[in-house]
Amino acid sequence: MEILVWPGSLREQSLNRKLASLISQKLGEFDLEVDLIDFREYSMPLFDGDIQNTSGLPETTTRLAKKISDCDGFVLVMPEYNYGVPGPVKNAIDWLSRIRPYPTSGKVGFLSSASPSLVGGARGLIAVRPTLSFMGAWLMPDSFSLATASQAFDNDGLLKDGELDDILLEMLNKFVNAASKLAD
Ligand code: FNR
Repeated sequence: MEILVWPGSLREQSLNRKLASLISQKLGEFDLEVDLIDFREYSMPLFDGDIQNTSGLPETTTRLAKKISDCDGFVLVMPEYNYGVPGPVKNAIDWLSRIRPYPTSGKVGFLSSASPSLVGGARGLIAVRPTLSFMGAWLMPDSFSLATASQAFDNDGLLKDGELDDILLEMLNKFVNAASKLAD
């Protein structure tokens, strides 16, 4: 089984990249392949139907679509921008949605976020859920939002709070179970 981990922030020092690395590390403890991508390698122009009509889909869109199509499940780890989905992630999803079948169709997805705030970016996940569901993803009902994330990691990138760490592991366990049941 292969799980794709998609950090939805471009920033080098991104807290969501950090959380995505931790999630990848934890997933690696299950019997599966983990593909942690660098979102910077999938830069796409702002969606413009004329670009699609004249030059087709950006190469980065088809590359990301293939990654998603080839995986058995995906984890999106993204920040919340202004109570919603960050532009780069929404833009990528809009480009991906031009492909049939949707690359996310039939894939089990797990949503996660990190933010320095007390809400942990949870509102962004609520906002992205209907879009990905519309695009055929089977999203796990639980999601993991890391609050006060700038203080949450130790020097090794692990969560300082052991209870929170157990909660994350349990959620990932359920996700891996669901993905393996739906895998071809
Ligand atoms: C934010 N941030 C933010 N945080 C939050 O909890 N709720 C929000 O609505 C927003 N809105 C927002 C908009 C914009 C444009 C930026 C740049 C930031 C703060 C955000 O969570 C924080 O910068 C994170 O560290 C961003 O994630 P990465 O890049 O660290 O993964």
